[in-house]
Amino acid sequence: MAHISDLIETDIDAYLKSHETKSLLRFITCGSVDDGKSTLIGRLLYDSKMIFEDQLAALENDSKKVGTQGQEIDFALLVDGLAAEREQGITIDVAYRFFSTDKRKFIVADTPGHEQYTRNMATGASTADVAILMIDARKGILTQTRRHSFIVSLLGLKHVVLAVNKLDIVNYDRAVYDQIVEDYRTFAADLGFDSITPIPMSALKGDNITEKSGETPWYNGPTLMAYLESVQVGDAYREKPFRMPVQWVNRPDLDFRGFSGQIASGAIKPGDKIKALPSAKESTVARIVTHDGDLDEAVAGQSVTLTLADEIDISRGDAICTAAQPCEVSDQFRSTIIWMSENELLPGRTYLMKIGTVTAQATIAQPRHAIDVNTMEERAARTLHLNEIGVCHLNLDRQIAFDPYGENRDTGGFILIDRLSNETVGAGMIDFALRRASNIHMQALDIDKAARAELKGQRPAMLWFTGLSGSGKSTIANALEKKLFAMGRHTAILDGDNVRHGLNQDLGFTDADRVENIRRVSEVGKLMVDAGLIVLVSFISPFRSERRMARQMMEDGEFVEIHIDTPLEVAEERDVKGLYAKARKGEIKNFTGIDSPYEPPRDPEIRLATTEQTPEEAADELLGFLKAKGYVGG
Ligand code: ADX
Repeated sequence: MAHISDLIETDIDAYLKSHETKSLLRFITCGSVDDGKSTLIGRLLYDSKMIFEDQLAALENDSKKVGTQGQEIDFALLVDGLAAEREQGITIDVAYRFFSTDKRKFIVADTPGHEQYTRNMATGASTADVAILMIDARKGILTQTRRHSFIVSLLGLKHVVLAVNKLDIVNYDRAVYDQIVEDYRTFAADLGFDSITPIPMSALKGDNITEKSGETPWYNGPTLMAYLESVQVGDAYREKPFRMPVQWVNRPDLDFRGFSGQIASGAIKPGDKIKALPSAKESTVARIVTHDGDLDEAVAGQSVTLTLADEIDISRGDAICTAAQPCEVSDQFRSTIIWMSENELLPGRTYLMKIGTVTAQATIAQPRHAIDVNTMEERAARTLHLNEIGVCHLNLDRQIAFDPYGENRDTGGFILIDRLSNETVGAGMIDFALRRASNIHMQALDIDKAARAELKGQRPAMLWFTGLSGSGKSTIANALEKKLFAMGRHTAILDGDNVRHGLNQDLGFTDADRVENIRRVSEVGKLMVDAGLIVLVSFISPFRSERRMARQMMEDGEFVEIHIDTPLEVAEERDVKGLYAKARKGEIKNFTGIDSPYEPPRDPEIRLATTEQTPEEAADELLGFLKAKGYVGG
């Protein structure tokens, strides 16, 4: 059974060749160390001889010294020893181990089992074909088992092994095993698995792991290894419709233009009709080019370059699909998101979304609901915290080609990245496209911004004042507006304190509420600029992300970021509204500068230091700047 690797010494080429042609199975083990997960993985590695000799000697020694198994080898030590190294601040804590037998190659994803590690499990499960759920025969189906099963099904796994372990401790009692299997089948009926394979075992004693156990004569099924060696999984992807996200356009000279990528699903032959998305242009495959020459057919998993019969425009990030069953295209989705960051989801903020070879900007709306991973119940949620799962609507800045995740994990799964820190903050699955976008068209208006501005004889702009509470934003904005008014300019002021009494009276001061506060005021400000006005926006607006968002909504040169740069000590000393004193006493929570961050602009159009001048002087300096830059004449 174990993999005999004599070939490594006698004929390395033959050894490598034999590896190349073997199929690969990726699986994940779910459970905690107590369930015997480490022992199980250790034994699989040991029996396939993938542990190096010196490591083996160390293991035998260690087992005698510290192991819990007397003179026998403690396989758990092997895996847990590696685990200790992993616990050093690695964000996604998934260990991948490789082993092989004569029949197959395996990659096993091993993740910690505790509740807080949902993100690790999801990461490990996202690439796996099979999940092994570890059950302690003494304990039966636990909350943890349900949680793992739910995550595994959410990530689209179809094959589950119910590893009923530690059967030796219950005297290989068939009744115990049967009860657990029955309980699990009842629970998992709605999870959509294609197969559930229960196996009675003792990872410690080696029962039904690689050798059939004499202790379970009543069990007729396969050993775990026999199951892993024979389960059919990979073919499913070949049978799906053809999809290839374009990685790059290969154009070495004028005579050759090919589209390179890895085939995500299906198969393709020269002569097949294809459709490129989002452009929806059609053509026919001319050649399938690879390093080893042209192919008559290519299938899921292969990396190829396609040439087409027609010159159609396709760029990186587009998808090439079979014309008969193309992907869908949309810019709005309902999706299920697993949040993976210590920083909560901020609805309304724009994140980067990576799906296939595309990176789009995605704004996430407030979750429709969160899902309790232990009970699978839906509950109301305003945001998502680390390891929480929720259903959210997503709005993209462009159309993308996709499939619902349930149909294709490669073209329906995505990750979310924070634009400033570059951190991966979430993983998501597209449930379906929202059709709203196609029914609501932008209404074309005959009188546009330019016409309105011309009538008013001015250049519309958004003057964005940012700074701490009490920095002097409103006072300076007010002084400037009086000067502009005196010059006959058409202006409007949007001030945080005022807007929060009306339009934004439902918002408080959590990060999420501030994001929404700024999103709304940016939209309103933009409408006012469209009306031809010079708009003065005076909000703390503490986050760079949202100030950048406001800037991006405007045309080039329309947005003027004005940092009212007053040190915290000075603003606190002034304490015009008495709020700092209250915040220091803990009477006001999330107060900017005290227990809520302020991110100063790195590159504002102008910075006004209020410690060196009066508000009147600051307003004059600002007006001078606006005149010099041509925002206001005269
Ligand atoms: S922002 O951060 O969302 O941009 P905004 O400018 O609308 O804030 O509102 C800030 C004003 O709300 C402050 O000037 C202050 O008067 C008041 N306020 C009340 N509670 C807080 C708080 N926790 N943090 C900051 N400002 C607060």
